[in-house]
Amino acid sequence: MRTLLLGGAGMLGTDLRRILGRRAEAPTSAELDIRDAAAVEAAVAGMDVVINAAAYTKVDEAETHEDDALAINAAGAENAARAAAAAGAKFVQVSTDYVFDGTADEPYREDAPLNPLGAYGRTKADGERRVLAAHPGAHIVRTAWLYGDAGTSFPRTMLGLASQRDTVSVVTDQVGQPTWTMDVARLINSLIESNAPGGIYHATNGDSATWFVFAQELFRRAGLDPQRVLPTTSADFVRPAPRPAYSVLGHTAWTLAALDVPRTWREALDDAFDDGAFADLIEAAS
Ligand SMILES: NC(=O)c1ccc[n+]([C@@H]2O[C@H](COP(=O)([O-])OP(=O)(O)OC[C@H]3O[C@@H](n4cnc5c(N)ncnc54)[C@H](OP(=O)(O)O)[C@@H]3O)[C@@H](O)[C@H]2O)c1
Repeated sequence: MRTLLLGGAGMLGTDLRRILGRRAEAPTSAELDIRDAAAVEAAVAGMDVVINAAAYTKVDEAETHEDDALAINAAGAENAARAAAAAGAKFVQVSTDYVFDGTADEPYREDAPLNPLGAYGRTKADGERRVLAAHPGAHIVRTAWLYGDAGTSFPRTMLGLASQRDTVSVVTDQVGQPTWTMDVARLINSLIESNAPGGIYHATNGDSATWFVFAQELFRRAGLDPQRVLPTTSADFVRPAPRPAYSVLGHTAWTLAALDVPRTWREALDDAFDDGAFADLIEAAS
């Protein structure tokens, strides 16, 4: 299966490359800009599968640069989906929990109405709609609260702070699903290797936690005292873009497609530590 991976240098893209191995061609953004429809069409020709993990991911900056985010997250995604449809290739669009407003009190179903709170979520929601219009058989894979070996993530920030400060304050009023990029990469691979129907899939690890509980678990697993994590609330930690308070995504589509359901976030975190994901930071903090 000839596979084109867009965004292969990003946090999720790095683990997608690990899982896909030599099957995937993964041009950098300098080699292939997804805003360039003609270049995307040429790159997609002859492919069996196209995975779009490329995105404008600066959530706060998107508030003042929504057009820039839209050009990549909506128009760029549409370019890739349209080219994949023309080539007869499967298409996977990676999306986000930020398409929801976070006011639910039970896990969001795959077909729950979209109502993004901020610019980044708006552009990603627009991307989902444009992708499905251009390639009705596409797989939309929403994920959330990602961490991995590459890039910037909450665990890397927390464990980095642990070597600089005695305590860290973390919010107790946002609930979500910490999710390891390796698990998302495996889930995407299971989709493209199967005959799973197109549509929306939620690729988050199971169960849920607040950022506070997640931070405590990180400290504990790193051999640090979890009491060094102090509770705070979003009101004391205001950022330019609003964050959904409740970002828990349901996993029904995997079962309906007869595929494995994502495992719990604690199981995934154990494996991420065993995999050495944060070894450099743990050594510095110990
Ligand atoms: N991180 C999270 O917690 C999270 C949560 C929910 C959903 N997601 C979604 O998961 C996906 C992957 O996120 P991530 O955290 O891995 O993102 P990331 O680390 O920021 O990587 C994004 C990638 O997209 C590339 N890119 C940006 N603009 C491009 C363009 N115009 N043409 C081609 N490539 C371009 C970047 O290349 P350069 O670095 O060269 O610009 C980078 O390789 C995205 O769809 C994101 O919306 C992420």
